[in-house]
Amino acid sequence: MNLDALWHDLECGAYREDLQLWRALAAETGGPVLDVGAGTGRVTLDLAARGMAVVAVDVDAALLEALERRAARLPVETVVADARRLALDRRFPLVLVPMQTLQLLGGAPGRASFLRRALAHLEPGGLLAAAVADAMDCFDEEHDVPPPPDACEIAGVRYASRLLAVVDEGGRAAIHRRREIIGPGERVEAHSVVVRLDRVSADEIAAEGCRLGFHDERRLYVPQSEEYLGSTVIALRAPRR
Ligand SMILES: C[S@@+](CC[C@H](N)C(=O)[O-])C[C@H]1O[C@@H](n2cnc3c(N)ncnc32)[C@H](O)[C@@H]1O
Repeated sequence: MNLDALWHDLECGAYREDLQLWRALAAETGGPVLDVGAGTGRVTLDLAARGMAVVAVDVDAALLEALERRAARLPVETVVADARRLALDRRFPLVLVPMQTLQLLGGAPGRASFLRRALAHLEPGGLLAAAVADAMDCFDEEHDVPPPPDACEIAGVRYASRLLAVVDEGGRAAIHRRREIIGPGERVEAHSVVVRLDRVSADEIAAEGCRLGFHDERRLYVPQSEEYLGSTVIALRAPRR
């Protein structure tokens, strides 16, 4: 059982609100597309199923194993690598960073390392598009209690992941979850996980990109839904030479 992939699917897999935006960008630029922090392939598989060649990069080999199995005969390549030190020796018309992955890179120094690598992997005039959100917005007056857990059952065992709280830790939002495995029989296993996302605005990231040579082209928006926060997508253009 690939538990890493199972939790990742439960906690990220059902999100669909941004897919139309990535499809539209890929149709605009053409492929192949570099999907950074691809996880189990939510975005990669959606684009590849529409005929777009995708190179999926993630630091977590277990997630990419699941992605590769699901990709079957789709035009997908996987690369286990840290996005901050990516060295593929090829260039892409479009680099995507969906679902706040850019906020997992260790603050401004980590983002700068990645932005430099993104520039090195973009064709002249290519586009980098990254989604950002402030996880502190998860709870507001309308959403003041945590949502029901994301859960599934496999072979009589229930896997549930519950969002407990999002805590401001200064420059980062700490997302606290409790993961439970219930069964078979009376067995119950529970543990806590915390994911920390840098709190940084789209304008700050765009300014960081511009200092490294990108052109700040536009902002796109993924609307919020009943279940998910909205996000801002920063579109930065590589120099055309
Ligand atoms: C929020 S998930 C997004 C997954 C997928 N892109 C999606 O939209 O469903 C963040 C992903 O980024 C990956 N990740 C985190 N830090 C990374 C790094 N330094 N380099 C490459 N991938 C990273 C994680 O392993 C995880 O799969």
